[in-house]
Amino acid sequence: MKKNNKKWSSRFAEPTSEIVKRYTASVSFDQRLAMFDIQGSLAHAQMLKKQKVISASDLRLITKGLNQIKKEIIAQKFKWSIDLEDVHLNIENRLTQIVGESGKKLHTGRSRNDQVSTDMRLYLRDVVDQIIDRIETLQASTLNLADKHISSIMPGLTHLQVAQPISFAHHLHAYFEMLQRDKVRFIDARKRINILPLGAAALAGTSYPIDRKFIAKLLKFDGVMENSLDAVSDRDFLIEFNSNAALLMTHLSRWSEELIMWSSSFFEFIEISDGFCTGSSIMPQKKNPDVPELVRGKTGRVTGHLVNLLTLMKGQPLAYNKDNQEDKEPIFDVSDTVLDTLNIFSEMISKLKIFPKNMEAAASKGYPTATDLADYLVKKGMAFREAHGVVAKIVKFAIDQNCDLDKIELKVLQKFSQLIEKDVFNSLTLKGSVQSRKHIGGTSSKSVIAALKNARSKLTK
Ligand code: ARG
Repeated sequence: MKKNNKKWSSRFAEPTSEIVKRYTASVSFDQRLAMFDIQGSLAHAQMLKKQKVISASDLRLITKGLNQIKKEIIAQKFKWSIDLEDVHLNIENRLTQIVGESGKKLHTGRSRNDQVSTDMRLYLRDVVDQIIDRIETLQASTLNLADKHISSIMPGLTHLQVAQPISFAHHLHAYFEMLQRDKVRFIDARKRINILPLGAAALAGTSYPIDRKFIAKLLKFDGVMENSLDAVSDRDFLIEFNSNAALLMTHLSRWSEELIMWSSSFFEFIEISDGFCTGSSIMPQKKNPDVPELVRGKTGRVTGHLVNLLTLMKGQPLAYNKDNQEDKEPIFDVSDTVLDTLNIFSEMISKLKIFPKNMEAAASKGYPTATDLADYLVKKGMAFREAHGVVAKIVKFAIDQNCDLDKIELKVLQKFSQLIEKDVFNSLTLKGSVQSRKHIGGTSSKSVIAALKNARSKLTK
């Protein structure tokens, strides 16, 4: 009979078939956790020595062996074997090859179940810190652009129709605020990621005199998980992370959609720099906004992974089940996608070319100051609902005459309402409309300058 070389093989009479080996192994993808796995093992070994479960010489050898393995992995000399199933067994096996008996003691008082959850938390904490940092970089790029466009007027849209004139900086600040909430969501999720599961062992804890708080301190966790079954089985921290990532990508996808529209010949509000676009193999005139299109496209896969993880979790009884091995590929993909997207987006925003004249020209079409005219009448004493009706008639008149509101003569305007006087024209210009909205959150220069100042103060670097 063919020899079964699995770690747990002695209990089995039959060897594992090749297809089952391939189906159940995770080493092809979970080797990405190697450095975190070693970091966790080093801390576990130190704790075992402190608690006198292993000797000082065991610890010395384990540390030496793990450090050597680290080097082998970095130099890409480490031989990963599918026979050893996953990253944990590969490293443990190599450790024993290098240091002998002491290597066999590393797994005392732990299981791969608490080990893998620890690895994922160490990995994710690192990713989350990078994401927070990169969101800040994008926020800073956004503010730098906004600072230059406080008095650039663009059409504010509802239903993709011209609604009211707004400052372009005000529009950019809206994305800053979304990113701020995204960032705070990651900061908050980090608190729940950064709790130590190690010590839960397979599911029920261990009978060795372990010191979990000691390991938590070594690995810079903020605390230890309070229930061993929960510690090895729940992946809510991954789902929460993925959900935050999906929201962040959704915001960037909306923004991408605007960049794509704004750079089209129908709008011509902006130009995306050449490095973020490609040409067409057939149409020589084309410059396609590939990067924002892909941000929009990749949002789908990040959201898809969220559904994947929620579905993965929903039917699992306590405690650990092998289903959870399937959490890794989606989480790695979400992490890579979000980190790359944030990097590329910041650079794209900092290199945007803006055409404020085209924005303003577009804002003047479609009677965007009609609400201002209604407000004007209200301030002169008319009830808003009535003013709304009067202005609707004036707009209809302007459409028939094919002219802007501020081009209608005063005498003509007065036929619609005697309340209209010469000062009405202040309300009919784009600038007058924008500057009149001077409360917190409004689009006037005064409000936007205050908002941008406030926004800057939320950046930590
Ligand atoms: N590769 C496994 C995973 O990613 C590690 C834990 C396996 N535990 C077990 N008892 N089979 O979940």
